[in-house]
Amino acid sequence: MSTSDSKLAQTLATLGVASAEQVHALFAELRTRFDDDVNRAVDENSWKALRDAWQGRKSGVLTLVTDQWLRPAAPELKRAVGASLNELRAHVDVQIEARRATIEAGAETAASAKDRIDLSLPGVIRPLGTHHLIRQVFQEIEDIFFSIGFSVVEGPEIETPYYNFEALNIPEHHPVRDDMDTFYLELPPGVPGPLLLRTHTSPVQIHTMEKRQPPVRVIVPGKVYRRDNPDATHSFMFHQIEGLAVDSDITFCDFTGTIDYFVKQFFGEGVKTRFRPSYFPFTEPSVEFDASCVFCGGSGTAKTGGTCGKCKGSGWIELFGAGMVDPAVYGFVNYDPKKVSGFAFGIGIDRLAMLKYGIDDIQVFFQNDVRFLRQFP
Ligand code: PHE
Repeated sequence: MSTSDSKLAQTLATLGVASAEQVHALFAELRTRFDDDVNRAVDENSWKALRDAWQGRKSGVLTLVTDQWLRPAAPELKRAVGASLNELRAHVDVQIEARRATIEAGAETAASAKDRIDLSLPGVIRPLGTHHLIRQVFQEIEDIFFSIGFSVVEGPEIETPYYNFEALNIPEHHPVRDDMDTFYLELPPGVPGPLLLRTHTSPVQIHTMEKRQPPVRVIVPGKVYRRDNPDATHSFMFHQIEGLAVDSDITFCDFTGTIDYFVKQFFGEGVKTRFRPSYFPFTEPSVEFDASCVFCGGSGTAKTGGTCGKCKGSGWIELFGAGMVDPAVYGFVNYDPKKVSGFAFGIGIDRLAMLKYGIDDIQVFFQNDVRFLRQFP
């Protein structure tokens, strides 16, 4: 217990205080102690302790002074004690309140300093990605076909042999199945199969015709899979856009006109198209479309002189397969082959992107090297 604490437990008489000067000295001592205490109150907790110690109703210093010093004081000292006590109380009240305000303001400043947003700092740069070139080419091709009334449909990448082959007029032992180098899925015992990764987007022709009645005008962008060994022009996964138009009066001219329009929109007005006979089980007649070589302008001669390496001097570049829908296919989807006709095509996206953007290795599409990707923002 400090000196002044022990003094607070005694009356003025026991302390031997008998004059007004002694009273003043006693209060001056108490005031010095209070001023020390105030300075030590630096946060909310120490401020509360200060308040309780001095203003506490039961045993705060001011209460003790009233009970021990003022009440029992000799009548001739009462005035001096009362006046000193009032002075001390006023000082204590003002100082404790002032200290509270200071501590509160300090806490606020500290908090706002912590939360402050410095608007002059450079912002966090979040790099925006871009579409992969393949996605961009899909978009370009879709936009061209949108402009002539086609809409987009999609289909599953895992297929049954029925959709990938049979319904497209490719029966079980048809030799064309060998060319397709199909990936079959290993299925858990009991799961009905077989299932395979689609080798082309053509199965979506069947899905679409099963669901819709003519007129049908759709394109089908998507991934396809074949057991090819990777090299500059082969990948076990690549991209196609299937096209299918079926209506009551679609002719071979509609077909070639549509393809020619597409090729010119995609490669430029100056590009010529031609078609050669080909074979697909689900189209009859089937054709292979070529475009005049986009590298040498169809001349067969490279700009730097010598034979054009891209078209090997022929002036033509093979684009994609297509044809009039084989009437046998209509049989699988309950269309009446006597009432409808149509055409279909299967565009290899990776190939077209390579031709248009001068890329000579298909693998760069899948290596995800940002130095390549950034060239097509
Ligand atoms: N599905 C064929 C392929 O992947 C392309 C094709 C589609 C041909 C539609 C004709 C009609 O090779």
